[in-house]
Amino acid sequence: MSHVLRTKPPESLTAEEAAEELAALASEIAEHDRRYYQDDAPIVSDAEYDALRRRNDVIEAIFPGLVRPDSPSRRVGATPTGRFAKVTHRVPMLSLGNAFADDEVIEFLRRIRRFLGLGDEAAVDVMAEPKIDGLSLSLRYEDRVLAVAATRGDGYAGENVTANARTLPDIPTRLPKEAPDLVEVRGEVYLNKADFAELNRKFAAEGGRTYANPRNFAAGSLRMLDPKVTASRPLRFFAYAWGEMQAMPADTQSGMLEAIGHWGFKVNELSRHCATIDDALAFYREIAVRRAKLPYDIDGVVYKVDRLDLQQRLGFVSREPRWAIAHKFPAERVETVLRGIDIQVGRTGALTPVARLEPVTVGGVVVQNATLHNEDYIHGIGMDGEPIRGGKDIRIGDTVTVQRAGDVIPQIVDVDLGQRPPDARPYDFPKVCPVCGSAVVREFNEKTGKHDSVARCTGGLVCDAQAVEKLIHFVSRLAFDIEGFGAKQIDAFHAAGLIRTPADIFTLHARKDALRKAVFEQREAAAVLREEATGKKRQKSLSEEERQFANVDKLLVAIDERRRIAFHRFVYALGIRHIGETTAKLLARSYGTVEAFVEAMTAAAADREGDAFRELDAIAGIGDTAAEALADFFAEPHNRDALAALLAEVTVEPAEAVDAGSPVAGKTVVFTGTLEKMSREEAKAMAERLGAKVAGSVSKKTDLVVAGPGAGSKLKDAEKHGVQVIDEAGWFELVGAKP
Ligand code: IVH
Repeated sequence: MSHVLRTKPPESLTAEEAAEELAALASEIAEHDRRYYQDDAPIVSDAEYDALRRRNDVIEAIFPGLVRPDSPSRRVGATPTGRFAKVTHRVPMLSLGNAFADDEVIEFLRRIRRFLGLGDEAAVDVMAEPKIDGLSLSLRYEDRVLAVAATRGDGYAGENVTANARTLPDIPTRLPKEAPDLVEVRGEVYLNKADFAELNRKFAAEGGRTYANPRNFAAGSLRMLDPKVTASRPLRFFAYAWGEMQAMPADTQSGMLEAIGHWGFKVNELSRHCATIDDALAFYREIAVRRAKLPYDIDGVVYKVDRLDLQQRLGFVSREPRWAIAHKFPAERVETVLRGIDIQVGRTGALTPVARLEPVTVGGVVVQNATLHNEDYIHGIGMDGEPIRGGKDIRIGDTVTVQRAGDVIPQIVDVDLGQRPPDARPYDFPKVCPVCGSAVVREFNEKTGKHDSVARCTGGLVCDAQAVEKLIHFVSRLAFDIEGFGAKQIDAFHAAGLIRTPADIFTLHARKDALRKAVFEQREAAAVLREEATGKKRQKSLSEEERQFANVDKLLVAIDERRRIAFHRFVYALGIRHIGETTAKLLARSYGTVEAFVEAMTAAAADREGDAFRELDAIAGIGDTAAEALADFFAEPHNRDALAALLAEVTVEPAEAVDAGSPVAGKTVVFTGTLEKMSREEAKAMAERLGAKVAGSVSKKTDLVVAGPGAGSKLKDAEKHGVQVIDEAGWFELVGAKP
């Protein structure tokens, strides 16, 4: 695809030229999206890509009638490939939490000791491993033969790339006879820096595609349709973890790596067993120094608790293990000029200032936008009300320092006053919403006695930005996941007045004619304007009309397919502040059915001192903030109405208990008194893993109280309500676990 130079200023384009250019931009940008999202192989820098999108936006602003239905401005991102079959991971492939400073590593180990109920001085050995910057791959061996190779995907399901993985010399296709019958080995596919440079040079000379970095190169190469192409790329593999295992060859991380090494995998030789935190931090510093000379890219060090029984007890919080952390190398920083500040209005009405920067390369990636967080941040005030950057504010025209670390959104971390233009003025944060014109407020937080750092539009559903963002969230992948229904459709149907609230989506079939009309009119309007602009009459064909009708029918079918939905998806879809995927799952598990949930939330909203609120607040993993946000949501009559209307349209499946077979599944348990074999946190985590709900206070709804020495009022409450009481040993006996 040629990279067309567009030199004519948009305002001097004729309508005909504009229509032609918008068509070209739409297909060109779609192609870049495909390369970026699906092939992991962008052929333009972020800056060039953004410039194309900006040009598209500017032309559309001048010729609003020419906005195409397939315009990039109506589309966010691209769909996943769908070229490889999906593989569900039997054991999810989760990610790692990050630490950037020594303190955070020290805190990580302190947390582990606390969770395990160990003393501050107790030894917790860790395995320290270089963090390879590639992409993770899971290799399943059945009867010692490679059966399936799958990419990580979203952690729960990835792509089946078996044929390609077989071509990697580092990946054995057979395991020796000492390996168990069922084995899943996991690790990182990567490329040596020298191989990357050489191949990129060769590809460039041949006029072919090049890759931004070895990681993209490896990802693109592993996901080739033709395994012969993958075979021609010098991909390598380091093993460092495992998934499903029929038998464990060792009881430590280091022992496992050794065993996996004996089975024929490459394990990283630099990895080191560390008995103290000082050893681990010394390893980090040593690796940081050696980093540049290593043949492959690394972006930090991973620390893992060595003993597997401890790993097991520590388990996971949301998508990250408690027993491992990535200690990342420092972020890269570069100076550039701040050209402007735009305000984005999110789903919850939060106004986020976004810096528009003079494009600059930070750590191999061109950065053009960065977050400015909030109003105070721009004015040099931190979250705690104290000055940051020595109190220096940020102004348009300033020379600023941009920082980028890993996949995190780039940030502006400093400003150079020496280079401030004389006419630069302090930035005025908008007092009204740029989308709907409603007042913008910063709520007063009674707990902190301060104003919230986030400014919010008060327009609620009146604000088109919020209404549309809420609906986009509602149909998104982790929520209702309606096929063929994305930002583009929401925008168009919202603008046509067809959908205002989620329930409206499910009544669209009753307004099929209006829906067809909306889809059709949108296309017609664009086409008529194109005709006027080009002076050419288009060929009207019936088939085009039929095709669009068929699209509408397909959409209605996709909507109908989602009338049954898992409880946690439903909760997540509501888009309540602070209620993400993990919290939604906790709520679903705790309340079991949507009816019980709505009843409890309505009660909690009506009385924040009452039992319902206290029980909500006591659910492990639900903090005060989430509890308050839920109560706030349910206190709004229009939210309750919207919810009732939605429930009339959809069926919400009851939550499945995590371990339905466990003797405490679905039970409400209270721990009280001193526990001796495990910390309170571990007890909660264990009970929840077994499908129980852990509450903080005893009521008539409690099924079981586990009381240690020193239990007081809760024990009395248990007697009062006739709740069964057992001790810690009784608990272990009941759940069939060893203390
Ligand atoms: S362990 C549950 N060990 O880093 C923990 N990950 O940021 C599983 N990575 O998805 C990961 N080197 O792709 C682990 N020695 C190492 C690693 C490593 C690189 C990658 C991996 C993971 C990502 C998390």
